[in-house]
Amino acid sequence: MIRMLIVDDKESMRRSLSRFFSEKGHDVIECSSGEEALERFQGSETDLVITDFQMGGMSGLDLLKEIKGKSPLTQVMVVTAFGTVESAVEAMRQGAFDYLLKPFSLDEIETKVEKALDQRRLLTENRYLRETIQKRMGRMIGQSPKMQQVYRLIEKVSPNTAPVLILGATGTGKELVAKEIHNKSPRADRPFIAINCGAIPENLIEAELFGYEKGAFTGAGGSKKGRFEMADGGTLFLDEIGELPLHLQVKLLRFIQERELERLGGTKTIKVDSRLIAATHRNLKEEVQADRFREDLYYRIRVIEIPLPSLRERGDDIRELATHFLEKYSQELHKNVQFPSEIIDLFSAYHWPGNVRELENIVERAVVLAEEETIHLEDLPPELHSISATTESSSTQSATTGMTERIEGMEREIIRKTMEDTDGNQTKAAKILGLHRSSLQYKLRKYDLLG
Ligand SMILES: Nc1ncnc2c1ncn2[C@@H]1O[C@H](COP(=O)(O)OP(=O)(O)OP(=O)(O)O)[C@@H](O)[C@H]1O
Ligand SMILES: [Mg+2]
Repeated sequence: MIRMLIVDDKESMRRSLSRFFSEKGHDVIECSSGEEALERFQGSETDLVITDFQMGGMSGLDLLKEIKGKSPLTQVMVVTAFGTVESAVEAMRQGAFDYLLKPFSLDEIETKVEKALDQRRLLTENRYLRETIQKRMGRMIGQSPKMQQVYRLIEKVSPNTAPVLILGATGTGKELVAKEIHNKSPRADRPFIAINCGAIPENLIEAELFGYEKGAFTGAGGSKKGRFEMADGGTLFLDEIGELPLHLQVKLLRFIQERELERLGGTKTIKVDSRLIAATHRNLKEEVQADRFREDLYYRIRVIEIPLPSLRERGDDIRELATHFLEKYSQELHKNVQFPSEIIDLFSAYHWPGNVRELENIVERAVVLAEEETIHLEDLPPELHSISATTESSSTQSATTGMTERIEGMEREIIRKTMEDTDGNQTKAAKILGLHRSSLQYKLRKYDLLG
């Protein structure tokens, strides 16, 4: 049912329209003034408003503005007498769907109302589609407290242009976060340009970033825009910024400060307005101390820092992500496979050195390999087999595994994890584990955990 308001200070007019549309089965509300209409207007619940232009008190035009401001999807039609075509045009400019010149037939108004309602349906559908796509594209999976913090930071930084530094180990979602910030920013419909400073050979990276003019170096046959220029109006994502050679760090700093650059071999200064997001898996503070990263650049890019948690720290997100990737790859590969709960337990116990990316790869591989509707241990890579012994310890199956073996399995896993947490520092690990360094070394050899 359509909810519509009919606004006119002349009763006869109101009545005839109201009777007509009520008989068509619509929910019609009569209002004798703009003020009354605003009172009875219920945001987007109101599909359509037909209002007279000239009324005592609030005019039809003012009512239109109020309504469009509150609910852009509500369609408004303005009825006006001859001689006020100009005002009708103004009404259209303010967002009225159409206007009607008096006198008009009921047929005429009905056609226009139908068109307005069609248009409203279309707009609603479009908006719904857009929102769904946006949600899908930008949807980051995981509700763990650590990720909630990340989401809050994303919301906070998206509207402005301050440089952002994203920190996190491999596969934690650095690039995804950068895109999410861009998509939520006012620059969303401008380019998002990513460049991985670690992946481009040192002799090419400068030209790639700053662009070049013809003849700038041997082989520069024409001129080319650099990535910085391509990101004009949008966002520039400098991935693995810790890998940027020192002499380019100087140039980058200048670019950030002056917001302008010259192409290689060029003399013209080019203004570029781009938002900088950088990411690194390195500890930049340490890099600064070791003179591998310029301190001034470091302070410049880390105005806002977003640290990403490792997958291990994300608790139940592991399950949620695994399910998400399972659905994704099942759909892509037209399969219908499920995880048994043992596999999920295994996932929760594993240490995920490659974080979300590793989880995604393992799930994809398992879906590819799965021959039945359930994923089996054999569909997982060997590194997960070794911990299956430890997680099975509580199940009946483990009765077949000897006590010593099970304890050793756990011990191996604990040591492996501690070594990883301490970045392989044996002294630290031994202290945490309460072992002498020599016995730790013995166990590392025994469990084949060296190197
Ligand atoms: N929270 C998340 N929800 C859904 N997918 C995620 C999430 N985090 C990461 N991913 C997915 O995991 C993969 C790795 O993410 P991404 O490339 O952003 O990580 P990264 O930190 O840039 O990794 P690297 O250091 O290896 O470059 C991508 O396929 C990404 O879509
Ligand atoms: Mg990356």
